[in-house]
Amino acid sequence: MKAVVLVGGFGSRLRPLTIDVPKQMIPVVGVTMLERVLSHLKAHGVTEAVLALGYLPDVFQEAFPDGESMGVKLRYSVESEPLDTAGAVRLAVETAGIDSTFLVVNGDILSTFDFTSIVNFHKNKGGLATVALTPVDDPSRFGVVVSDEQGRVRSFVEKPPRETAPTSLINAGVYVFEPEGLDMAPLGEPTSMERLVFPELAKSDQLFSLEMPGYWIDAGTPASLLQVSLDILRGKVVGKDLSALQRAVTGRDLSQTETDCYVGEGCVLEDNVDVRNSVLESQVTVCAQATVRDSVILPGAVIGEGALIDSSIVGHQAFVPPGSIVVNGSVISRYAELMPGCQVVGERVPS
Ligand code: GTP
Repeated sequence: MKAVVLVGGFGSRLRPLTIDVPKQMIPVVGVTMLERVLSHLKAHGVTEAVLALGYLPDVFQEAFPDGESMGVKLRYSVESEPLDTAGAVRLAVETAGIDSTFLVVNGDILSTFDFTSIVNFHKNKGGLATVALTPVDDPSRFGVVVSDEQGRVRSFVEKPPRETAPTSLINAGVYVFEPEGLDMAPLGEPTSMERLVFPELAKSDQLFSLEMPGYWIDAGTPASLLQVSLDILRGKVVGKDLSALQRAVTGRDLSQTETDCYVGEGCVLEDNVDVRNSVLESQVTVCAQATVRDSVILPGAVIGEGALIDSSIVGHQAFVPPGSIVVNGSVISRYAELMPGCQVVGERVPS
């Protein structure tokens, strides 16, 4: 089976981390978000994925020079202007010559969904498309989907206020399509899945939905990126044995607290550091007496002596000077150099 993976968005909610790295190329506990999506697709029989590219397409093409990742053959569909969700899928179908049932996934959705069961449900119903649904506590940030007992979609309500939401089931960003399901999206023109294609398919009774059990997260915000990283540490997302994720740290054994962490290749942890419940991607240096808690430190960043990082994300190769404090959901961009001894509390740097 083939899949289209949507990875062309600007990732503005994750700025400044996405200024020169597309969000799906940000590592999430040792592998990029995209590689996590691809390996999940592979486990459900996907052999070829078309990456629908728009923002920073070269970064993807350079990262996978062999046209393959996680055992999945890659094709690239590059947009010269953002085509929005449905326009992007329509172009990808055309570019890769997809001519049978295929999966579509938003590249920032990480889940344990059983894709095989969604495809089987779709084929049994015989519609042109099927949307996977997931329940959330607060649907006001999402598109809510109302369906009948057979799973036929009746309506879409975009970002309803929490109190008036007709259901807590939202569009999970995972779809199964027949190629004809996109015929209404004009080739090469920006078209929205949620605003045009799905409502039209629903009107003609061709759109079905299926509530999926399991873990689901939209990893496109700093809070959710942090959340999914810590969930992976606790084995919630991939169910992978954490010990297999641990890597050697500069010739010494990990201490008790450090074993609650993912420590990537080439990391240096100096004396008396306190690193807990955190992800240190490759080549990170944590200098003496520094504290890192409930945080994600991206490759090559340096946490200076005595600095404190709590519940925050530090970007690739950023430098947090000695004695600095970075806390409360702060996000420090790639290559940022903070002022010595600064305090960053719930801010994005640069803002
Ligand atoms: P924000 O700017 O933070 O909202 O992120 P985003 O631009 O990625 O948008 P959003 O999360 O709503 O997009 C959902 C999925 O569709 C993501 O995987 C995006 O990469 C992708 N996407 C959004 N717009 C486009 C587009 O115009 N072209 C392509 N190829 N993908 C898109």
